Amino acid sequence: MSVLSLRPLVPDAATFQVLRGKSMAEGFSMLRRLQDHWRDGSNTFAKPGEALFGVFEGTSLVGMGGLNVDPYFADGGSGRVRHVYVDPEFRRHGVGRLLIEAIACHARARFALLNLRAPDAAHAFYEALGFEPVKGEQFATHRRLLTMPNEGS
Ligand SMILES: CC(C)(COP(=O)(O)OP(=O)(O)OC[C@H]1O[C@@H](n2cnc3c(N)ncnc32)[C@H](O)[C@@H]1OP(=O)(O)O)[C@@H](O)C(=O)NCCC(=O)NCCS
Repeated sequence: MSVLSLRPLVPDAATFQVLRGKSMAEGFSMLRRLQDHWRDGSNTFAKPGEALFGVFEGTSLVGMGGLNVDPYFADGGSGRVRHVYVDPEFRRHGVGRLLIEAIACHARARFALLNLRAPDAAHAFYEALGFEPVKGEQFATHRRLLTMPNEGS
């Protein structure tokens, strides 16, 4: 694998359409929903603290993930990890870790914790990255408290 770079993502470019096609071929709808909501303006990752990241190999998008203010927890201090997807050919090479650590790093400026709701197949991934399983909540399967690097997390 050659050099990868992390950059802000605009989900309308041709390279996004390629990754969107791969996700839909696997049965995942999150990139389609992301693009629909971007286009209708309902979620453009533009609220304070929000971000949308892509991992690129050259000009090709090989992974993506977003950070929203969590709409399900109205405390203002909760961020929500959204739409994390890595090209099948690039999995288990640290792309997902790069995305989550970028999201966590960005989130620390604004949020005290990150929530997410993940399919069973992604639980091991999130637990490897410091998320704790959440039991009995409708809107979260996992949560990670955010601390500064010198606070031990
Ligand atoms: C989940 C996903 C994002 C992981 O991306 P990735 O780039 O393969 O993840 P990484 O290589 O950074 O993995 C980091 C660590 O997570 C764990 N991990 C990742 N995938 C795993 C899997 N399938 N099974 C068990 N552990 C896994 C491992 O500990 C891994 O470290 P290691 O490779 O050194 O053992 C990717 O598999 C994916 O896009 N899946 C389909 C979409 C999806 O489920 N998204 C989540 C929606 S909430």
